[in-house]
Amino acid sequence: MSSTIEELVSALTLEEKAGLCSGQDFWRTKAVERLGIPALMVSDGPHGLRTQKSGSDNPNDSIEAVCYPAGCAAAASFDPALTRRMGAALGREARAVGVGVVLGPAINIKRSPLCGRNFEYYSEDPFLAGELAAGFIQGMQSEGVGACPKHFAANSQETRRMSADSRMDERTLHEIYLPAFETAVRDGQPWTLMCSYNRVNGTYASENPLLLDEILRGQWGFTGFTMSDWGAVNDRVRGVAAGLDLEMPGSGGVNDAKLVEAVRSGALDEAVLDKAAARILNIVLRAADLAKTSATFDRTADHALAVQLAKESGVLLQNLGALPLREGQRVAYIGAFAETPRYQGGGSSHVNTGAAIGALEAARRNNRMVSYVEGFPADRDQRDEQEFLRAVTAAEEADVAVIFAGLPEMFESEGADRRHMRLPDCQNNLIARVAAVQKNTVVVLHAGAPVECPWAEDVSAVLCMYLAGEGIGEATDALLWGEANPSGRLPETWPLRLEDTPCYLDYPGDGLTADYREGVYVGYRWYDGRRMPVRWPFGHGLSYTGYVYRDAALDKDTLTDGDSVTLRVRVRNSGAVRGAEVVQLYVSDATGTPVAGGRVPQALRGFQKVMLEPGQECEVSFTLTARDLSRYSAELHDWYAAPGRYELRLGHSSRDIRITVPLQFKTERHLPLTVDENTPLGVLLADPRTAGPVQQMLAANSQAMDNGGGDGLMPPDAVAQMLDAMPLRALVNFGGPGAAAALPALMKTLRKATKN
Ligand code: BGC
Repeated sequence: MSSTIEELVSALTLEEKAGLCSGQDFWRTKAVERLGIPALMVSDGPHGLRTQKSGSDNPNDSIEAVCYPAGCAAAASFDPALTRRMGAALGREARAVGVGVVLGPAINIKRSPLCGRNFEYYSEDPFLAGELAAGFIQGMQSEGVGACPKHFAANSQETRRMSADSRMDERTLHEIYLPAFETAVRDGQPWTLMCSYNRVNGTYASENPLLLDEILRGQWGFTGFTMSDWGAVNDRVRGVAAGLDLEMPGSGGVNDAKLVEAVRSGALDEAVLDKAAARILNIVLRAADLAKTSATFDRTADHALAVQLAKESGVLLQNLGALPLREGQRVAYIGAFAETPRYQGGGSSHVNTGAAIGALEAARRNNRMVSYVEGFPADRDQRDEQEFLRAVTAAEEADVAVIFAGLPEMFESEGADRRHMRLPDCQNNLIARVAAVQKNTVVVLHAGAPVECPWAEDVSAVLCMYLAGEGIGEATDALLWGEANPSGRLPETWPLRLEDTPCYLDYPGDGLTADYREGVYVGYRWYDGRRMPVRWPFGHGLSYTGYVYRDAALDKDTLTDGDSVTLRVRVRNSGAVRGAEVVQLYVSDATGTPVAGGRVPQALRGFQKVMLEPGQECEVSFTLTARDLSRYSAELHDWYAAPGRYELRLGHSSRDIRITVPLQFKTERHLPLTVDENTPLGVLLADPRTAGPVQQMLAANSQAMDNGGGDGLMPPDAVAQMLDAMPLRALVNFGGPGAAAALPALMKTLRKATKN
């Protein structure tokens, strides 16, 4: 605590301290005028400001603001430099309207495509989500406005979101659901962090000492203040004790009184409340200080940025040649999303913007020769045969048909999960009918999450724009007509059907308990592990040019603890237009060591987006440490990589690996091994600490072991497996008198070697 903060805290009465730890209203903390402590204003959200109009008493009556691509789209940029720019632009706007903390980025893991809030979140992959979040936070805070990563943690469904209990094992929590927050905190140093509504393994996130104190502050070094999601507080006293500093939006004094009472009765140590108040004050004063310098923003420039971000977020999923569109072609635009695109999701992140236009209007402004038939509405599933016939005729008469499809707002929103993964039937139907008469059919998708695409093999091209913000129309126009080259990549797998998804059988649970039974097998970890065909894999995205990889090399072929290696590769734009490649690095554990909970086939550990002119080549490098090879070990309660061989896979997507480079890893670290009479011989033979003495004993008693082991009666592999599974105590039965006699001494040696 700095001396000013310390002095202020000691000048506050107990009631004032408790009051400071909850909101004054929906968007502000409490001021303490007698001590000159101002209120701090916060505002949603992750992709644009939702700041309440001054003078309005309706928290949903927000000012006009720039709407940037929602998390789903921003993540598809695969570019932390871009989320950084977005964060900075948002920061400037926030400061100009007096907002000190913006409630974003939203970085929960996309466990199921059905989660109604996936459109706000970044990815199914924690590494990607973490890197993008850190960029966003750094950008925003460079403008003197605090960020607030949310919702901490394991908040991956909307069904009964305020009470559901996300249950998972320790490894899954640490390996999948926490790392994005860890990177956000370590690399972004956010001023604040928001806890989630749900429980995690039985304890509400708003009163969870493991998450809020031990991990967040203790392990990751978080120094800001924590706040509740709006209404996430269960037991306020327990919350403060666990490390939840600010309750939002407040409880009209009810919970403040409970805090006062708890301190008075001795149930809560006043020093704990002091710390919470101090952490809040620290940020309140910082924001007030930074707000002294005036801030402005340029709405036109920010709109241009929104368009650019949208261009970089569009993902070309498929292209058999219909794209880019060419001048002189007769092009039919079909589907109401061409006129009224969906570019953001419903709920707390909703931005009030009037600046979004559709691709049809953008085409008209650019004097493109396009015809338009509505075909189907953008806000509901409604089929009109006359419209269908007009659309099919227009498609037939054109050179290319572009269908603007997507999820209506009523299909996807905060507060509710989707019930299925389909587009409205009317859309699937019309796409199939148009594709039957027009081989150059292009589908443009507007959705915050994957949808089933049963017509994919019948159309030429698919461009996914996700929910790309107010620049969506202009960006779609530029991408369709080749004025911009698609460079987005899928931040999540697009499965063929809902039934293929990892948690299909468990999601969303009974709504009280959400069992994360699929464990670490989330997203591509699952589809790759099962070698399942998918519609489009993680990291996938096409371009109007091609990229060639060559000369991948490591600076050394063995990595040791505490050391790092650098992997370099050269990438060339082999086509005729400028384009950006996202070089992706996946690490695969090829050590063969058995892993409790299963070994994931590969995990993203690096990515870099590089812009290349035609023919231009550049070098991309990645630096790796032991942590990049590691999985989380519940035995060590820490990250661990087994010694042996790893594969470093470089490629254009998770399923388009271009070069694989082997790496050896040597380590002095061991997993704990408790030796007793029931430890299998296979475990002892696999561990360098115990292999020697066990081998010696087996060699010395090989005759007896052979007789007892069924040699000759069974295939060699079965004999080997029997030996592998044989517990030490079985030496008494099958090892002969020599082994039986040697067992006590052997046990002693093994225990010494493993220190137990
Ligand atoms: C949402 C948060 C949001 C808050 C304030 C909650 O319902 O879960 O993400 O920041 O409302 O609008």
